[in-house]
Amino acid sequence: MKIAVVGGTGLIGSQVVEILRAAGHEAVPHSLSTGLDLLSGQGLREALEGADVVVNLTNSPTFDEASLAFFQQSMDNLLAAAEVAGVGHAVVLSIVGADRVPGLVYYRAKVLQEDLLKASPVPHSIVRATQFFEFIAAVLAENADENTVRLPAVLVQPIAAAEVAQAVADVSLGEPLRGTLDIAGPEIFTLDELGKITLAARGDHRAVVTDNTAGMFAAASGNALIADEDATIARTTYREWLAR
Ligand SMILES: NC(=O)c1ccc[n+]([C@@H]2O[C@H](COP(=O)([O-])OP(=O)(O)OC[C@H]3O[C@@H](n4cnc5c(N)ncnc54)[C@H](OP(=O)(O)O)[C@@H]3O)[C@@H](O)[C@H]2O)c1
Repeated sequence: MKIAVVGGTGLIGSQVVEILRAAGHEAVPHSLSTGLDLLSGQGLREALEGADVVVNLTNSPTFDEASLAFFQQSMDNLLAAAEVAGVGHAVVLSIVGADRVPGLVYYRAKVLQEDLLKASPVPHSIVRATQFFEFIAAVLAENADENTVRLPAVLVQPIAAAEVAQAVADVSLGEPLRGTLDIAGPEIFTLDELGKITLAARGDHRAVVTDNTAGMFAAASGNALIADEDATIARTTYREWLAR
């Protein structure tokens, strides 16, 4: 199969390309650095020529209000071009519980991305993953100084990016789900607890201060970010991943 992986140079995209190629498929990475700009549409027609599947693993450069315009414009361009090219399957990676955190504009932007995909005539699949282990360091840095790291006691169920990439690759090779597959990590933590585990593993002696107003995840409450019972549960635990 020929698969155009847009965002194919990113954290998930580069691994999806590798997995698809190892399985014998023609997976082609496209991104700003290869000359495809989803916002202007430059390079898009050529990228989708002859593709059976398009996988969109791009990300907005910011998590603020501008992310709404990013996902609107990029999906409008992608879906219009996919329809013209006769692509038979469009896959997008979204976030478990994105629709349950309306206070977070980036999550509203991901719901917008999903809605645009669902409304398109191009057969689709949505993979929703929980927060990547690889993303935790950035979350810790958001409200940190030399002595403390402030984190809310929000429930999270993080996952290894490698297992998200495998799920995205598997879905992109199958029939369009015309629906959503959720994938989540094997353990649930509070974010402040996850912060303590992370700092301890790094030998970082800063104190974790529980602050339910700190950072972007302060907007999530209750079980908003936890996968429902029908989700696929990945294998790698956070401590195993940290130890690698
Ligand atoms: N972080 C999490 O915990 C999490 C959880 C669930 C789902 N997700 C979703 O997973 C997706 C992938 O995330 P990631 O961390 O793998 O992203 P990433 O590493 O930041 O990679 C983003 C990719 O998008 C490309 N890109 C950005 N703007 C573009 C544009 N205008 N035109 C074409 N390509 C563009 C980049 O290209 P260049 O490399 O050339 O700049 C890069 O290949 C995101 O949509 C995110 O919402 C993330």
